[in-house]
Amino acid sequence: MSKIQVFDHPLVRHKLAMIRDENTGVKSFRELVEEVSMLMTYEVTRDFPTEEIEIRTPLAPTRVQVICGKKVAIVPILRAGLGMVNGILKLIPAAKVGHIGLYRDEETLQPVEYYCKLPHDIRERDVIVVDPMLATGGSAAAAIGFLKDRGIKNIKFMCLIAAPEGIAVVQREHPDVDIFAAAVDSHLNEHGYIVPGLGDAGDRLFGTK
Ligand code: PRP
Ligand code: URA
Repeated sequence: MSKIQVFDHPLVRHKLAMIRDENTGVKSFRELVEEVSMLMTYEVTRDFPTEEIEIRTPLAPTRVQVICGKKVAIVPILRAGLGMVNGILKLIPAAKVGHIGLYRDEETLQPVEYYCKLPHDIRERDVIVVDPMLATGGSAAAAIGFLKDRGIKNIKFMCLIAAPEGIAVVQREHPDVDIFAAAVDSHLNEHGYIVPGLGDAGDRLFGTK
């Protein structure tokens, strides 16, 4: 069974509270999503291997730890996943970015793929799939499935708000994929929205409603 890590850091809690608030406008919403994604990246990368190298400070030679040979790809699920990418790139600037376009059919709630463009060497990379919302889990499970079909093995999933239903689906279909969520909410409503959640992440990021 995969691990789920939920964030209790005061900065994450505070910024997520502002993201949830219906009075937060598009500009602040975007900035806050980017900031929380950056803060979460600190934990998502905790298992990156390091190696010792020798450098010289202005005072003396010394041995220091640096990240060794980690090749990373960030794969946002379009559209709302895009809002998380820049925050992650602030801490992993050399990461490549692939895109998977999925939307949720509003009747069936099933994910429909409409776009996929990945780095050519993605099989050699550790992949972080990102989407602010893990609701029924259909979109995340499908995106992870597409990546596995393309031979990618080491995948993590990162979201801002997860519902228990979505966590269960990803853990059942992809028990090897660890989940990082800033918060886990109570339940889904009859339209598949996370309650209390933050509303429609894509619409709030891009001002489409
Ligand atoms: C939202 C969200 C996830 C999906 C989560 O996207 O960003 O991708 O719903 O729901 P699920 O866990 O039930 O699949 P949406 O389909 O609204 O598309 P958008 O990002 O283009 O707005
Ligand atoms: N997608 C969203 O944007 N919000 C939800 O609460 C559920 C799915």
